[in-house]
Amino acid sequence: MANVNKAIKISQKHLLGIQDLSISDVNIILSEAKQFIGLNKSKNKKLDILRGKTQINLFFEPSTRTLSSFELAGKRLGADVMSMNLNNSAIKKGETLIDTAMTLNAMHPDIIVVRHQDSGASNLLSQKVNCSVLNAGDGRREHPTQALLDALTIIDRKKKIEGLKIAICGDIVHSRVARSNIYLLNMLGAEVNIIGPSNLMPKDIDKLGVKTFSDMKKGIKDCDIVMMLRLQNERMTSSFLSSNREYYEYYGLTPDKLEFAKEDALIMHPGPMNRGIEIDTKLADDINKSVIKEQVELGVAVRMACLKIFCE
Ligand code: NCD
Repeated sequence: MANVNKAIKISQKHLLGIQDLSISDVNIILSEAKQFIGLNKSKNKKLDILRGKTQINLFFEPSTRTLSSFELAGKRLGADVMSMNLNNSAIKKGETLIDTAMTLNAMHPDIIVVRHQDSGASNLLSQKVNCSVLNAGDGRREHPTQALLDALTIIDRKKKIEGLKIAICGDIVHSRVARSNIYLLNMLGAEVNIIGPSNLMPKDIDKLGVKTFSDMKKGIKDCDIVMMLRLQNERMTSSFLSSNREYYEYYGLTPDKLEFAKEDALIMHPGPMNRGIEIDTKLADDINKSVIKEQVELGVAVRMACLKIFCE
């Protein structure tokens, strides 16, 4: 839905998925985010851009990075931020997402950040409340701010995305991070290789404009970026893998497999990591190759940009 009242022209009222954004929207968000990188490293991190605004973080699934960075982002912009602890809420008494949304809507928030286990939950919420909704991950569908912070990290290190060869590896079928990254990296002109065992590949993968590989060495050959994903055991309804050891053998990122990527290839992971299952622990901490900490750092800047743009 177009919202012409925003000071910064963005085509959407809500941030529900990368698929809804235009290239111009993405560029607006990324260039706003760049301006916050320096601020986040400085001694005085407080602005009053969102003074008087109320931000509610509504997380129905566990989160460390996303919740804390949305909370810090809102506070650094001067908003009043309330993070709902859903373990103590009426959800435990059987209240639905919509009832919760209507209750919160009556308190006149200016923005709601939502994470939910159902794909499409953020879209549903956006239809029921008056304020903007930011999707912090809905089921296996989209996680737009993660893809945006991944893009910002790549641009920060490689100075571009267009023309880069980027491998996304692991549990693709359950990963909203993979889906949002595929949409965004394709939009920004990267060549995307998707790697994983056939039972962890989505059925519609051929429609997503990527190349697929079941052999990790072939998939990461000559890549500039190797993005690893967590095995999302909580979304697996049956046994997808014979053992963690076998998974590590074929799909864990190890020094011998990384040799196939470009010499200056960077390693990414959205976290939380299962060390020794998806990734060799030394590689994860290798400051010359891994940008995992930088992803977390730039995540705050991206979330500040999104809050600023969608809250105004
Ligand atoms: C991701 C998520 O929740 O989708 N984590 C995150 O936001 N940093 C990936 C994951 O949980 O594996």
